[in-house]
Formats: sequence, structure tokens, C-alpha cells
Amino acid sequence: MSSAKRSPQDQPPVTINRLAEMKANGEKIAMITAYDFPSAGVIEEVGVEIVLVGDSAANCVLGYDSTVPVGMDEMTILTKAVRRGISTPLLVVDLPFGSYEASNELAITSAQRLVKEAGCDAVKLEGGGASVDRASAIIGAGIPVMGHVGLTPQTATALGGMKAQGRTADQAIKVAEDAITLDHAGCFAIVIEAVPQAVVEMIVEKIDAVTIGIGAGNVTSGQVLVLHDLVGINDGHMAKFVKRYADVRGEMKRGVESYVDEVRSGAFPAAEHVYSVEPAELERLRQRLDREDLESNYSWDWEPLA
Ligand code: KIV
Repeated sequence: MSSAKRSPQDQPPVTINRLAEMKANGEKIAMITAYDFPSAGVIEEVGVEIVLVGDSAANCVLGYDSTVPVGMDEMTILTKAVRRGISTPLLVVDLPFGSYEASNELAITSAQRLVKEAGCDAVKLEGGGASVDRASAIIGAGIPVMGHVGLTPQTATALGGMKAQGRTADQAIKVAEDAITLDHAGCFAIVIEAVPQAVVEMIVEKIDAVTIGIGAGNVTSGQVLVLHDLVGINDGHMAKFVKRYADVRGEMKRGVESYVDEVRSGAFPAAEHVYSVEPAELERLRQRLDREDLESNYSWDWEPLA
């Protein structure tokens, strides 16, 4: 297993076959969320295997208090922006809550829109049960699907809140069943969220698909974190599984504070931010301003309001 930095410039686009090969070779897969063009550009430069336009965009960039309200139009706009910024990673998009559960037809229509209009390579959906049927239908329509088991935020209320899953044998068997049936349905990858590592270890042994963990320990084929958590844009409560690698919010705050201070003190703009003009042009302007009655030369073609 190599931890050497990959050089994205030399890399061909990541394919589903390449991910399966990485799993077989024991090479860890890096996946990260993105919701905008500049972040996508940074991720492309660094080089990761999978970019997810997660419905966590609902909380991270749209200001909703859960992932439930975000819709297809919003996910499409965000995905188009990310698509413009990346060409190497595999681009996966979350099917938002309400865009796939009701029928296989709805699931296929929503997935097709995200592929055709937004340019994603694959879609992700949450849960087992009826979602397995939806996954199967979308795969049958030619679109690769990533499953998501364990803590599934779209239906967190039914799971008793945003908390770890699979901590009892009964709960764990449900997570295992969901993962195994999604695997049999043909999902190329399965996200396992907030499940004890010892349980995940047993589940991954039964699965052929690539597994991506978030709060699932280090026994999966790869890891995913939400960009806004890992670079410290989000503040407030963080899940146990989040590791902070930067303090972007703190840095942004320092920048905005300095700007406001300098505007108020008059230190900004300084000479280097100001355009210059030739002295001769300035003199010509001065003479004309002195000489001409600009207002009387100005022709108005509208009637003033009564
Ligand atoms: O929406 C999201 O960001 C996700 C990841 C946490 C897997 O589903």
C-alpha cells in the first residue's frame, strides 16, 4: 500500500474498475464532498478518487437544519458547479430525499436528470429495503449507484436521531442486511456511516463492492469526510468521527475583520489598489470640467415622473 502523493495532472479519470482494482490491491480510496467550483478546483489539484456532491450541502452551504429539505433543482445547480471544477475524480451525487423513494420510475428519472443535466458519473441513495429495489432499477437503466447504510441522515428521525447505528446485534444485523442486499443489487460502492469498527469488519468481509467509511473505523476500502467539517468551515457540534485538518472559518473571520478595520480606519484602499492616470489627461479633464456645463449638454430622453 502506498501513501505517496498522487499527481492528478498525470492521472486518467477515475473509473469504477479502477476503484475495484484499488480495493483488490489494498490501496485506500479517498472520497470528499464538494458543493462549489473553487473547492472542486482545490480537490482536483490535490487528487482524490471520488468527489461527492452530498445532500449535506443542505446544512453546509444552504443553511437548512437537516438534509431533508434540499431538492433536485438545488442539487443540480451545485453539481454543475462542481463538474466544471473537476475532471479526474469520479463524481457522485446524492439523490435528495423525496427524489427516489416513491417508485423505480421516479428514481430512474431523478438519476437520469443528474447524469444528463448536471454531468455526474454516479448517484448515491440511502438505506436498504425499498432503496435496494430503486438501486437495482437505476443500475438497470445504466447508471452506477453507491449505497449508504448505517446512519442515514435523510431518515435519521426514524433511526432515533443522528447517532451511531449497529451497536446491538439486532441493529447490526439490519446494517449488514442492507449492505449485503445493496451489494447483490450491483452497487459499485457502499458508504457505511457511524457504525462500530468491529461490526464493520464483519460486514465488509461479506461484500464485494468497494466500501467507504465515515465513522466506521479503518477497515473499509476508503474514507469520506464532509469538506466543510475537515477544513473547519463548519462550527458548532462535530460528530465523533470528524477530524479537523484546518481552520478555514477562523482564517476567513480574521480576513474579514482586518478588511472591515481597514475600511473604517481609511487604511484600505492603499496606493497599490488605486488606478493611475497620466497628468496631461488629468489636466485636460480639469480644463473641460471648468469650461463645460455638463448638465446642459446631457440629453434626457425620458419624462420626469409627475
Ligand atoms: O451528504 C453527505 O455528505 C454524505 C456523506 C457524509 C457520505 O452522504
